[in-house]
Amino acid sequence: MAKPVKIALLGCGTVGTEVVRLLGEQAADLTARVGAPLELVGVAVRRPGRTRDTGIDPGLFTSDAMGLVQRDDVDVVIEVVGGIEPARTWLLEALKRGKGVVTANKALLAEDGAALHDAAAEAGADLFYEASVAGAIPLLRPLRESLHGDRVTRITGIVNGTTNFILSAMDATGASFTEALEEATALGYAEADPTADVEGFDAAAKAAILASLGFHSRVTAADVYREGITEVTATDVASAKGMGSTIKLLCIAERTGDAVTVRVHPAMIPRTHPLASVGDAFNAVFVEAEAAGQLMFYGRGAGGAPTASAVLGDLVAVARNRLSGARAPSESAYAKLTARPIGEVITRYHVCLDVADRAGVLATVAGVFARHGVSIATVNQAGRGNDAVLVIVTHKAPDAALAATVAELRTIDAVKAVASVLRVEGDL
Ligand code: NDP
Ligand code: HSE
Repeated sequence: MAKPVKIALLGCGTVGTEVVRLLGEQAADLTARVGAPLELVGVAVRRPGRTRDTGIDPGLFTSDAMGLVQRDDVDVVIEVVGGIEPARTWLLEALKRGKGVVTANKALLAEDGAALHDAAAEAGADLFYEASVAGAIPLLRPLRESLHGDRVTRITGIVNGTTNFILSAMDATGASFTEALEEATALGYAEADPTADVEGFDAAAKAAILASLGFHSRVTAADVYREGITEVTATDVASAKGMGSTIKLLCIAERTGDAVTVRVHPAMIPRTHPLASVGDAFNAVFVEAEAAGQLMFYGRGAGGAPTASAVLGDLVAVARNRLSGARAPSESAYAKLTARPIGEVITRYHVCLDVADRAGVLATVAGVFARHGVSIATVNQAGRGNDAVLVIVTHKAPDAALAATVAELRTIDAVKAVASVLRVEGDL
């Protein structure tokens, strides 16, 4: 038997605790699969003196993550702390020293993945991050390896468990946004600061990672158009239901020629759409490729154990590589695509207006759409005393034209309020 592969674990929270549990419970199998034991030699946390039910020797805990990373006997560093700094400094140091790195840190990869990839390439070290997108779902490895002979054209998915949990609860039980968020946090799905989830930052980071891998180009979080779900109301959800639809926070990355558009926003999708039935904290991602056609990946996208499954999968791969002297394929970012703004995306809108119920209002509203070159697909009107609610679904148009239409609607007298604006995916 080869000598143990020594592991430093940075972070022992929701994910780290499960990594430790799986390392212990599956020690024999992991040893057999790797060809050497996996030995945890240190665990860096913020509060090392805290009582933890992990079964780890309390002497392994330290608050000195950098000291742990710099130990000569450490072969692999697993980072499940999160955030940009100090995680970036630790991981750059680990890679510089030739250690294998496994991380779940999508925020860091989406902001400064290039620095990590460059450091890994320079040192000939492995950098694995399957857990950073869609939890347990094997998704990055297929994009990074299996689909390298094909041309990916579009990636559409639900990649944030917390917001999917919230929207599913609002849809199924009429729960309020706040109630559903509290439950998602208690279940360990939400980030330490749930703003990252509900404002779409977490999904945008994942979208950037998916687009980078899928399109062989460096896409950062700054290239991703982002809207969260905090503006989605119970009325929107009910209105979607009334149209045989539901609302999901989607990430959509599209390649057109030498350009890429990547966006995260709530969208109305028909209940017949395969993503509509993705409930709870589950994630699902469609990958469309020229030769492969449509591929769908589905599974648990958040939570300690599912995420730890992906971390352990990466750990086994890195440990095997260390034993054989191999290294996984480097980042492939040769395509150098230009990121285009949301205004150039061709999409559809569902617009809900509170209007005065009098002669000529419909014509005035229709005129605004026409002025911006936006064709109306359907109009529904429900009377409400002297007022009416107009629900308009458009045909496809550039997002900039749709946005300009809504901006003008907000200025005309007959429109008392633009109650909601949602993009539409699929055929309503
Ligand atoms: P937690 O907040 O539960 O855990 C964070 C851990 O990091 C804690 O153990 C904390 O120590 C430790 N830590 C924080 N700051 C420091 C520091 N300065 N030095 C040393 N240790 C520190 O986070 P999660 O486990 O939920 O997430 C970890 C990573 O995994 C993040 O990048 C997240 O985005 C990613 N991820 C999370 C998923 C999930 O479902 N939770 C899913 C996929 C990815 P202490 O215990 O003392 O507080
Ligand atoms: N907070 C994230 C989510 C964890 O809800 O999807 C998984 O990355």
